[in-house]
Amino acid sequence: MTHPVLTALGLTDHESGTYLGRGEWSKTRDAGVIEPINPSTGEVLGKVYASSEADYAIILERAEAAFKVWRTTPAPKRGEAIRLCANALRKHKDALGSLVALEMGKIKPEGDGEVQEMIDIGEFAVGLSRQLYGLTMHSERPGHRMYEQYQPLGIVGIISAFNFPVAVWAWNSFLAGVCGDICIWKPSPKTPLSAIASMKICNEALQAAGFPDIFFLFNDAGTEIASSFVDDKRIPLISFTGSTHIGRQVGERVAQRMGRSLLELGGNNAIIVDPTADMKLAIPAIVFGAVGTAGQRCTTTRRLFVHESIFDSVLETLIKAYKQVETKIGDPTLATTLMGPLNSQAAVQQYLAAVNKAKAAGGQVRTGGAAIEGKGNFVLPTIITGVENSHEVVQTETFAPILYVMPFKTLDQAIEMQNAVPQGLSSSIFTTNLKAAEQFLSSAGSDCGIANVNIGTSGAEIGGAFGGEKETGGGRESGSDAWKVYMRRQTNTINYSDALPLAQGIKFDL
Ligand code: UN1
Repeated sequence: MTHPVLTALGLTDHESGTYLGRGEWSKTRDAGVIEPINPSTGEVLGKVYASSEADYAIILERAEAAFKVWRTTPAPKRGEAIRLCANALRKHKDALGSLVALEMGKIKPEGDGEVQEMIDIGEFAVGLSRQLYGLTMHSERPGHRMYEQYQPLGIVGIISAFNFPVAVWAWNSFLAGVCGDICIWKPSPKTPLSAIASMKICNEALQAAGFPDIFFLFNDAGTEIASSFVDDKRIPLISFTGSTHIGRQVGERVAQRMGRSLLELGGNNAIIVDPTADMKLAIPAIVFGAVGTAGQRCTTTRRLFVHESIFDSVLETLIKAYKQVETKIGDPTLATTLMGPLNSQAAVQQYLAAVNKAKAAGGQVRTGGAAIEGKGNFVLPTIITGVENSHEVVQTETFAPILYVMPFKTLDQAIEMQNAVPQGLSSSIFTTNLKAAEQFLSSAGSDCGIANVNIGTSGAEIGGAFGGEKETGGGRESGSDAWKVYMRRQTNTINYSDALPLAQGIKFDL
């Protein structure tokens, strides 16, 4: 029986995974089937027909043709298109938020929050469509004018991860859309239905208003089409969100063909709690950061550094809070649930392996540390003490609710440990000491792309640039001037004089 959440969005349990543009979904039925699993029950949610190479060829051909139209459409008019997408998403927020919860396993308020992130970035993009500013410069030559402008880049390839199955697409495609680009999306094979639903909502709104195609979708049964996608010279930008392991390969291959890549890879985010911290703020922030989305955000809090003078009391309070969360683990679509399942059985195995490694390294499991028997991929939120920051298990991002808690003596030492990992996404300090906060944010402070004071590591607003350093990949998406990656930059010098003076005063008289 088709799940009612699918029905609410006009989906059946047999969907095409390929949007070919012009309102057409592919009829391909022989390129494999993707079966997303409900992570709370282990049941198959539906069948998604994978895309064929012929489908991919049609998408590319149509995307290239669409770009020729879209690049000359005025940017504010492109903004109008994205405004319609944001409005349509607003109408379907409840249903799409429920589908994200069902298919990914995050709790309903987080599913809704993800759709809200799509709406927010849509509105940001509408404003941006009138603000794709370049600079003007004063030329060193008389009778000359110099300026720079940003032009549409072309086709943008978006490869997104299961943990934010819809918002990450919107961050990329709504900005790229107002920038004049055409977007082709390859979502995670674990969450194709959320992708199909988002595409239907947005493309139907665009079609009804007579806009040309700007968003395409394919779903790969294996990795062959995705692999050609990464190597495809017709795609000047590949935006990839996922593991550092795969992201490194994507980055290298795109660089090989001199393409541009935007990489949002793993995080190993830490919170520092100093002796002056306001615990009313720190405790809920740590719990949400470490346990929220069952530890499956790239911004999840994975390490906690607590000043030795308050270590035992913070730990005790956290353990109590974790025991509360334990009573609210379950079906993510229910209003009372605080923590849903991990997305896959493989993730449960990785969680168990990390707990075992930590134990073997002398770590003590203070709470949690086990999978929950029965249906679905449920595990207990886990706190581990007694492991060194330098240990391999602490240095690795395990996409699960495991928090390593470590004591520190001085702030210098805490900042050094927080930076001493390969990843550099998000970081926070809880303090009421101005000097400590400023030191943390200084050039000798956190080395992450995101550094917060008195809020946690996860749950960033769309207005700021989102991304991180080192093995996180260096990309920036979402707000601020992240739009520039979706455009090509051009410097223009115009001579309106009757002479031809050369720059740097060079004489070249014929
Ligand atoms: C991700 O996990 O890939 O800051 C993105 C956050 C969200 C986005 C996370 N706004 O936690």
